[in-house]
Amino acid sequence: MSTRYYITTPIYYVNDRPHIGHCFTTVMADVQARYRRLRGDDVFFLTGTDEHADKVVTAAKMRGLSPEEWTDRNAAAFREAFAFLNCSNDDFIRTTEARHRERVERYIAALITTGDVYKGEYEGWYDEGQEEHITENAAREAGYKSTISQRPLVKRSEPCYFFRLSKYEARLLSLIESNEWGIEPEARRSETLGRIRAGLGDVAMSRPVTDDPATQWGIRIPGDPGHRLYVWIDALFNYLSVVDTPERRGYWPADVHLIGKDILWFHAVIWPAVLLALRGSSSEWSWVELPRRVFGHGWWTADGRKMSKSDGNFIEMERLESCAKVFGLDALRWYLTSQGPMAGGDSDWVHARVVEVYNADLANGIGNSASRVSNMIGKYFPAGLPEPGPANHAGHDWRAIAGKRVEAYARAMEAMGYSEACAATTGLVAEVDAYINATQPFKLAKRAEAEPGVLGELATILTNCAEALRIATVLMHPVMPSKTVELWSRWGWRLPEGAGLEAVCAFGGPHALTPGTPIVKGEALFMRHDPAGG
Ligand code: MSP
Repeated sequence: MSTRYYITTPIYYVNDRPHIGHCFTTVMADVQARYRRLRGDDVFFLTGTDEHADKVVTAAKMRGLSPEEWTDRNAAAFREAFAFLNCSNDDFIRTTEARHRERVERYIAALITTGDVYKGEYEGWYDEGQEEHITENAAREAGYKSTISQRPLVKRSEPCYFFRLSKYEARLLSLIESNEWGIEPEARRSETLGRIRAGLGDVAMSRPVTDDPATQWGIRIPGDPGHRLYVWIDALFNYLSVVDTPERRGYWPADVHLIGKDILWFHAVIWPAVLLALRGSSSEWSWVELPRRVFGHGWWTADGRKMSKSDGNFIEMERLESCAKVFGLDALRWYLTSQGPMAGGDSDWVHARVVEVYNADLANGIGNSASRVSNMIGKYFPAGLPEPGPANHAGHDWRAIAGKRVEAYARAMEAMGYSEACAATTGLVAEVDAYINATQPFKLAKRAEAEPGVLGELATILTNCAEALRIATVLMHPVMPSKTVELWSRWGWRLPEGAGLEAVCAFGGPHALTPGTPIVKGEALFMRHDPAGG
């Protein structure tokens, strides 16, 4: 039986329009999902929208819409963005769906029974004129005055539900120290450990419901409808609620929650503690093991600056769409994947760099190499791909060369080291180019007219090149799912389903190119881009 693999992205606030931040995380998860499918795993890939934020009601009202109409509209924008980016998610959860709400109510009810969720008094800053609670940070920033009326904020206490996070401090520490609960990359793990060691207090997890419609949006605390669940606790549960069905339960626990570094605390600390509490609440939840790991990636900046709405330098869908129009969608995915901020620091989006990477890796890299090889085979072997010769030829041991690259690629992929994984594929292409330069097949072809014996040598070279490029493009396939298939169709090859990475990538193995297949030249996969052309 194949290994199950469950990967999630954050669910996105529906008040925002999709931008590079959301698109990046979802495309990175898509690359991993496609890679795991390539390995032969049974993958479940989840993304979606987080819809119970307070801002939703205000934003909807400003536009004369109901919160439902507003969220329908914006959730659709996220779905479209991810479809445009060719993301292969298996489901899309909206937290306003009944399948989510009903399960969350059951989880909270179970936590109330054990006392891990309890009713207490919340003391915090309150703006009397606005009838609004203000967080400590916001209050401090505003000088403890109302930003609207300038009247001093008052301390106010009111009943509220808490999650007993403090109870899980020691368990969390030992789970993280032993790596049973994996927080990656390492810098994020140690940052989290430090914060836990400083001490964990219980967390407020409900907001009161009043006559104000803005306070009525959200999931109610079971048995106490005067309180609604704080949006974060509601949101985190999506990872569980979606697979909490008889057919999907086997996907739990999640293998990885891919998120951005800004939302690490909720995922690395609060979420596992809530799950430990749920699992401990009754035997009904004994299957709720901890997910295996959370991975917090870095951020994109634009032209060296933090992206912000006020500066107007956010890379929005329009920019991504126009980039895909100029370079192709797969090239955009390649740029995000090979240059994006995964384990390292942040990455900077610079147009000149987009052009540079495109030309180097795609137009002059795989694109040029594939067309050189296709052209020569088409020209010198019009009857189709010749029979392969020895895979160890002219000092190039192709089985070993390809094997090493596949291994490096797989290692990097498993660790989400996407730039290294991409480099393993371009490295293999570069070896093909070096082999062509060393063996000079075009010169051999000239000699072949007079010396028919040379044709065998030519066949060896070109079939070795084609086979290595087949493997390089299999490795590129999770990042560029369309262009790779386009090339394969010209070479009469298809990705066998469920065969597993090793078998598919074995040089001259069971899934090698078939001799006799006519090779179609076709247009350049990636036209060279003139940087002066914009
Ligand atoms: N709704 C919460 C998540 C709940 S998950 C249970 C939320 N949503 S969000 O709409 O703000 O999207 C957050 C995601 O977008 C995070 O993973 C965040 O890191 C990512 N990004 C937002 N801006 C980004 C960049 N400039 N660069 C990369 N990713 C960034 O938080």
